[in-house]
Amino acid sequence: MAIERLTYQSGFGNSFETEALADALPVGRNSPQRAPYGLYAEQFSGTAFTAPRADNRRSWLYRIRPAAMHRPFEPMHAGRIVSDFSGLASTPNQMRWNPLPMPQAPTDLVEGIVTMAGNGHPSAQTGGAAHLYAANRSMKDRSFYNADGEMLFVPQVGRHRFITELGILDAEPQEIVVIPRGMRFRLELPDGSARGYICENYGANFKLPDLGPIGSNGLANPRDFLTPVAAYEDIDGPHELVGKFMGKLWSAQMDHSPIDVVAWHGNCAPYKYDLRRFNAIGSISYDHPDPSIFLVLHSASDTPGVSNIDFVIFPPRTLAMQDTFRPPWFHRNVASEFMGLVHGAYDAKAEGFLPGGASLHNSMSGHGPDAETFEKASRADLSKPDVIKNTMAFMFETRLVWRPTAHAVGSAELQHEYYRCWQGLVKHFNPNQP
Ligand SMILES: [Fe+2]
Repeated sequence: MAIERLTYQSGFGNSFETEALADALPVGRNSPQRAPYGLYAEQFSGTAFTAPRADNRRSWLYRIRPAAMHRPFEPMHAGRIVSDFSGLASTPNQMRWNPLPMPQAPTDLVEGIVTMAGNGHPSAQTGGAAHLYAANRSMKDRSFYNADGEMLFVPQVGRHRFITELGILDAEPQEIVVIPRGMRFRLELPDGSARGYICENYGANFKLPDLGPIGSNGLANPRDFLTPVAAYEDIDGPHELVGKFMGKLWSAQMDHSPIDVVAWHGNCAPYKYDLRRFNAIGSISYDHPDPSIFLVLHSASDTPGVSNIDFVIFPPRTLAMQDTFRPPWFHRNVASEFMGLVHGAYDAKAEGFLPGGASLHNSMSGHGPDAETFEKASRADLSKPDVIKNTMAFMFETRLVWRPTAHAVGSAELQHEYYRCWQGLVKHFNPNQP
């Protein structure tokens, strides 16, 4: 029996309470001697027990059978998923890729993931991976969990239905979904196929940034983060549980669906967020702020102010600054930037950066607007605002170098001529003309 009630609970990091059957949640205690309806009580911890309260994440699950109940895991082929980046040669070249082709053969999410770049390692709980995926088959009698990291999905094509232990999340392009480390789920494809990007975060859980002088409103607002209500299925029969652990994939057989949590409470839960609700903040005088002003979520590192991963978006917005070059400027950063485009066009590039495509600008590699964009913006009429519509670009930015995988470097989608977009920049310098 699957509960089809599709509503959400609102807020970021809240302690939620939800039950798919009336009175399934124990009252006043987490682990009563006997839980209601004959359920098993199980704690699901996403942080150290003693993490500070503001960061502490854990939920209590009341389920038909405990998660321990499966046959032993056997190693399985990891497909195109990579988690060890230490041996990869890294190039300082700017890189850009065309969109990942949709698969011809039946391919589910796990089979459709292609790792493009990564850094750190799951064993150190540092760094992350940037993946693309393209799938044309819903997962059926098969669930997945990732012990290596949290997964931030950025759908780019097709509706996505995440059936998780804690409930159902429906998402479409321009929304994101975050699945906590270790949470079991399967992805169904209501449109028959889907494509997108994944940021796999080996480090600290994503959280909302502090807002400092911005004040109490702006950027991503907590109320717009939606967490599912409890929904379970009571299905007996063969089921495959695929786990990602220490960079490898593992398969275990079960005799029931693991989506059997009837009630839960706590704050370690999957969530979704509609990027169109982001409140973009910008300059109202001159120049424009660093892209950190577009920060949606970040994974903090042990160094204050330096993120393990920043998830940044470039949403529709209005540019009205004066005496200013309005598009993103030329720059070199210590941070490394993996970018994607959900739809529309990105304002720093005239062409070549396609919806579903990706680009990589690593630490201290120069980049910025292409020649056409530079010339156009240098002569733009600044008396009128630029209203940037119909776009949604994003960036997985890290303190560590993104090391492209062998697949990414050898991919047919790699644009070998990307560097040419800056070769047409004209020398305007004239020492006699200030
Ligand atoms: Fe950049």
